[in-house]
Amino acid sequence: KIFTIFGKSKNMHSFEYHNPVRIFFGKNTISKISKFIPINAKILITYGGGSILKNGILKQVQLALSSFTVFEFGGIEANPEYETLIKAVEIVKSENIDFLLAVGGGSVLDGTKFISAAAKYQNGDPWDILSKNDRIKDSIALASIMTLPATGSEMNPYAVISRREYKQKLAFGDPLLFPKFSVLDPLFLKSLPKTQRINGVIDTFIHVLEQYLTYPNQAEVQDRWAEGILLTLRQYGPQYVHQEYDYDVAANIMWSATSALNGLLSIGVPSDWATHAIGHEITALFGLDHAQTLAIIMPGMMQIMQDQKRDKLKRYAKNVFDISEDDFTVEKIIKATENFFHALDIKTRLSDYQIYEDDFKRIVKNLAKGKEIKLGETGQVNEKEVYAILRAQS
Ligand code: NZQ
Ligand code: ZN
Repeated sequence: KIFTIFGKSKNMHSFEYHNPVRIFFGKNTISKISKFIPINAKILITYGGGSILKNGILKQVQLALSSFTVFEFGGIEANPEYETLIKAVEIVKSENIDFLLAVGGGSVLDGTKFISAAAKYQNGDPWDILSKNDRIKDSIALASIMTLPATGSEMNPYAVISRREYKQKLAFGDPLLFPKFSVLDPLFLKSLPKTQRINGVIDTFIHVLEQYLTYPNQAEVQDRWAEGILLTLRQYGPQYVHQEYDYDVAANIMWSATSALNGLLSIGVPSDWATHAIGHEITALFGLDHAQTLAIIMPGMMQIMQDQKRDKLKRYAKNVFDISEDDFTVEKIIKATENFFHALDIKTRLSDYQIYEDDFKRIVKNLAKGKEIKLGETGQVNEKEVYAILRAQS
């Protein structure tokens, strides 16, 4: 699991940080991109199910790229599908594409990262990049126009790819897959349906918690950054989800999503990522949206791992939900978190999606992949804990 770093040091961990992604943030910043693509590049625009045709974003991209040779590949699904991406790899090879421009949400960008890696993969079956975590040695340059704030993929080198035939959803990452640039124009969020706005707030909130709700190690700056994003999501999340589009709200949500998973929150601190690991299996087996799985699992994680997380749960309760140390109980902070989720119209029980005790074995088996389960910031989320978390949220 690329995200999981085990560590027990109670001091700030040593780190090296390098993030090469150029961000163009703001209204109409798409006009700047042509200067950052090699003049003779053969570009493949990749996109999803067609939202960019309806909201006019594709037209803006075509205009910005009018001096380039451009091909297009649409149809990348939510939870991008391996079989589809392999078709794009064929086009990249046959047309000698040397620049990929993902226009869409996290799925389109993640899919494009895989296309980038697979098109240069010389080691046999590109599925091995995911299933065996085979390191890649080369990639095709890629960049993104982000139309959905949620995953943070626009400023990180990770991707999550699904193969429905095998009921698998697997993550991989490599520094070669950092986007060259990402355009974050909050105006592009006007056309987002409510479900995607909900998903974006939840995914971002959980990304922060996965890097914050562990154990304290004197990393005050990182903790304050994390709390800053959580408070911003509390402040703007409900308005973003329930009310008419507002530029400032969209801008703050968009920058929160990028800031939550561009590496800054995780440097020097332990990370968890067990909620994501379990959530990915629930998507693979039952097709729930990524964020829907996270909203279910995180409250269970807080409950079952409360002994390991107690100090940080206290701090989170105080600094994010105004629950004083004297008033603190684990139940209260879980309730406060769930109330926040419910207020965003997202559910927190497996039974809300018709997933019951009988299904838990499959989830655990898929998660284990024939090995011992060892997740969380100290590797203490094992098979027993996963069952307990699923039961707590049944
Ligand atoms: O496909 P189109 O037609 O473009 O429609 C999409 C899609 O149906 C629509 N959409 C996107 N922008 C829109 C819009 N509709 C109207 N207006 C717009 N401006 O939204 C739908 C969902 O898109 P998707 O890309 O699937 O959502 P999201 O950005 O939440 O990405 C989810 C995927 O990212 C992975 C998840 O596992 C999931 O596969 N993740 C990637 C991470 C990373 N690379 O670092 C980390 C995350 O934790 C996450 O695991
Ligand atoms: Zn996520």
